[in-house]
Amino acid sequence: MRIILLGAPGAGKGTQAQFLMGKYGIPQISTGDMLRAAIKAGTEMGLAAKRVMDEGKLVSDEIIIGLVKERIAQDDCKDGFLLDGFPRTIPQADAMKEAGVSVDHCIEFDVPDDVIVERMGGRRVHPASGRVYHVVYNPPKEEGKDNDTGEDLIIRDDDKEETVRKRLAIYHEQTKPLVNYYSAEADAGNCEYHKLDGTRPVDEVSAELAELLG
Ligand code: AP5
Ligand code: ZN
Repeated sequence: MRIILLGAPGAGKGTQAQFLMGKYGIPQISTGDMLRAAIKAGTEMGLAAKRVMDEGKLVSDEIIIGLVKERIAQDDCKDGFLLDGFPRTIPQADAMKEAGVSVDHCIEFDVPDDVIVERMGGRRVHPASGRVYHVVYNPPKEEGKDNDTGEDLIIRDDDKEETVRKRLAIYHEQTKPLVNYYSAEADAGNCEYHKLDGTRPVDEVSAELAELLG
């Protein structure tokens, strides 16, 4: 099963990707996590990406498309994958189509901007696994620690309110057009398109996903 998780920053893509990975045994391909891993490794690409990400802007299509193509070609992706944070521009979606990579489901998480800003202020992440928490809505068992490993949770560098607002503006400008793009793909019979209310509690959103994906 090949799934695109589409939605604004903080809409819950990473959170639901963790749920879907567990349920369907398919890998999460998070371009944001891949870029953060490159930053941590100190690669040239990572350093260049960090400047862009800290400003809340998008990394170039060329770099991102290269990263995803390489990742999708790996063995563990042959039975499917979850695209989290990709595609995020029309050229990225076109590149996938041109490469002959079809998708089965495109899932849009609908969450208003004010809810997003509030959520990001409380987000804590475990970088090694991609697990995501919220101090109020999805707290870890022990404050500041990952549930599975007990390792420290961190606050992402781009979760400052000012940066979140910039990321939201860019989402509306460059990524929102993909709603029409994939709705049209669904109308043409190329995939299924589902729009979910992402403001409901994490478990309710997961339950709806499980129901619609079967
Ligand atoms: P990326 O890491 O992809 O960030 P994003 O898309 O902005 O999304 P987030 O990870 O911030 O949010 P999410 O939807 O995963 O929400 P989460 O589940 O964590 O990208 C970062 C940067 O990398 C970009 O700005 C860009 O520079 C670059 N980049 C990445 N991909 C790119 C691409 N394709 N092209 C170009 N550049 C790219 O949840 C958020 C919080 O809310 C958490 O605290 C969580 O616990 C909580 N929460 C989740 N669901 C609920 C719920 N239902 N109710 C209450 N709280 C909830
Ligand atoms: Zn995420």
